[in-house]
Amino acid sequence: MKKLKLGFMASHGGSNMQAIVDACRDGRLQAEPLVVISNNHDSQALERAKKAGIPAFHLNAKTHPDPDLLDDSIVEKLKEYGVELVILAGYMRKVGNSMLDAYKNRIINIHPALLPKHGGNGMYGMRVHEAVIAAGEIETGITVHLVNEDYDEGSIIAQCRVPVMPSDTPQTLAVRVLAREHQFFVETLIQIASGAINLQAQHQL
Ligand code: GRF
Repeated sequence: MKKLKLGFMASHGGSNMQAIVDACRDGRLQAEPLVVISNNHDSQALERAKKAGIPAFHLNAKTHPDPDLLDDSIVEKLKEYGVELVILAGYMRKVGNSMLDAYKNRIINIHPALLPKHGGNGMYGMRVHEAVIAAGEIETGITVHLVNEDYDEGSIIAQCRVPVMPSDTPQTLAVRVLAREHQFFVETLIQIASGAINLQAQHQL
């Protein structure tokens, strides 16, 4: 089977990226991690990339003050490494228009809730889990979706449910959801790699 050529963009922990890299390396996922880009020079994601021997780059508004040039440089880097599918794994910036054009329907993101609930601008990290608990939800989940110009609004590719326990705090819920994300992101990518999920067709649903 042809291997999916993956590029990652991550801002902080990079634990989802790590789960995917591990799945590539142990043969569960027919894919190759080719490059990691982070906007945060001391992110754990960059550390993890270095440890895994994956070329890693720090590109942000400091390295490229012009937003269009930053966007172009990110695309250039991804192309230089032959990336076919871009994975946003905790990337806290909006992707620019050149990225959206160059990788139309080939950028995916993971969100720690059941979109369209509890998503959008400002809904990231612990805020998502706080909102889930404040809304009295008895279940939350994970959404993998295509990326477009609006936060968390691209077509939904796959979702899975995670229970909310009566005793949960945002912190305990975050731990349960993140652990499931690591499995679910890999499961979803296995389906993309095998053709069971077709991102181009997905977009037209
Ligand atoms: C995850 O919860 C993901 O859903 C969200 O950002 C977090 C990233 O965590 N988009 P990590 O960097 O993969 O550890």
